[in-house]
Amino acid sequence: MKILVTGGAGFIGSSFVRYLLGAREDAEIVNLDLLTYAGNLRNIEEVAANPRYRFVRGDIADRVQLREVFEEHQFDAVVNFAAETHVDRSILDSAPFVRTNIEGTRCLLEEARRYKVERFIQISTDEVYGSLGSTGSFREDTPLDPTSPYSASKAAADLMVLAYVKTHRVPALVTRCSNNYGPYQFPEKLIPVLITNAMENRPLPIYGDGMNVREWIFADEHSRAVLMALERGNPGEVYNVGSGHEKTNLEVVHEILRLMDKPESLIQFVKDRPAHDRRYSIDCSKIRREWAWSPEIDFCTGLAATIEWYRTHQDWIREIKNTSYLSYYDQMYTRRDETLAGTASSKEED
Ligand code: NAD
Ligand code: DAU
Repeated sequence: MKILVTGGAGFIGSSFVRYLLGAREDAEIVNLDLLTYAGNLRNIEEVAANPRYRFVRGDIADRVQLREVFEEHQFDAVVNFAAETHVDRSILDSAPFVRTNIEGTRCLLEEARRYKVERFIQISTDEVYGSLGSTGSFREDTPLDPTSPYSASKAAADLMVLAYVKTHRVPALVTRCSNNYGPYQFPEKLIPVLITNAMENRPLPIYGDGMNVREWIFADEHSRAVLMALERGNPGEVYNVGSGHEKTNLEVVHEILRLMDKPESLIQFVKDRPAHDRRYSIDCSKIRREWAWSPEIDFCTGLAATIEWYRTHQDWIREIKNTSYLSYYDQMYTRRDETLAGTASSKEED
């Protein structure tokens, strides 16, 4: 089976590339990734020499380049991980989110249609469902209600995928997973921010009151579900993926400090994210029932393994936490404060 994986130099895409090459001896992968700030060839260096693996630097929103890649390889399937993924960045500048997440997905669908691929897996997110109160869980038929430019762009892409199934009979399906964590996650997302800052005894920023709830899944468990989607999923359907491990952000930070033996005084409450979703919770009974998929890694074990990975990969962190990373953080807090005060100009006016 020849598979186009997009965004395979990112956090979850690289987990999937490693997992698929190990799990299926007949799988050949072309990894198409633009290598934005979030893409990193070091994430996939352990498979770089595998004869069943090839890397192509490219943009999913570039139709000409996509056509060349599809023309050269007769893909059986496409798994689309490529995206702009950080909510805070989407608040500062939504343009790359519209381009990559919506237009990029549309371009891929067009090529998948033209070259008649047998499966198209759209990697989506539970954020498309919006925010929950203290009870209930998202089901696959929960109405879409995105609140950030990021989640709105992912919801738009999902609708585009499902429309291509109906209109053009592209054999596509959508997976929607909860918050991932694990090795190789870019230190802009909560868990790697907390771990890498704690390693340097720097403040651990907690938005608002820290009582927002996320459902945490180890990324390799997500990859296992994506392979099942590829092999067993039905076109036109949506599949939720989750772990059941719901935690408040305060519970997460306390657990990290305990595992790292660091003081609670490192916690620093900062201004809240605008339209900060209060709680996510996923009902994934469909894939438990239909694919016998179930999560195997409990949160504490996964978190300890993740901390150990960051502790033993200081060079990986150092390369990322460079000047442009730090200036992004300065800019993010300033611009977010301006946004909250209603004084921010939009990036497009700048
Ligand atoms: P990431 O930000 O770590 O990686 C994204 C990758 O996409 C990077 O390698 C980047 O270079 C690449 N990319 C960006 N724009 C591109 C373009 N135009 N063309 C080609 N490549 C491009 O993201 P992640 O956390 O690994 O998320 C992967 C996917 O999973 C995304 O679609 C995301 O929406 C979804 N998802 C993420 C989570 C999570 O908790 N991180 C949860 C559920 C779903
Ligand atoms: O639910 C799946 C989604 O999870 C994915 O689709 C997104 O790509 C991914 O970024 C993630 O979105 P979140 O907004 O939930 O993740 P993030 O790590 O940015 O934040 C998790 C929680 O922690 C959220 O309540 C905001 C809070 N937070 C985040 C950061 C970065 C903090 O309190 N402090 C921080 O420094």
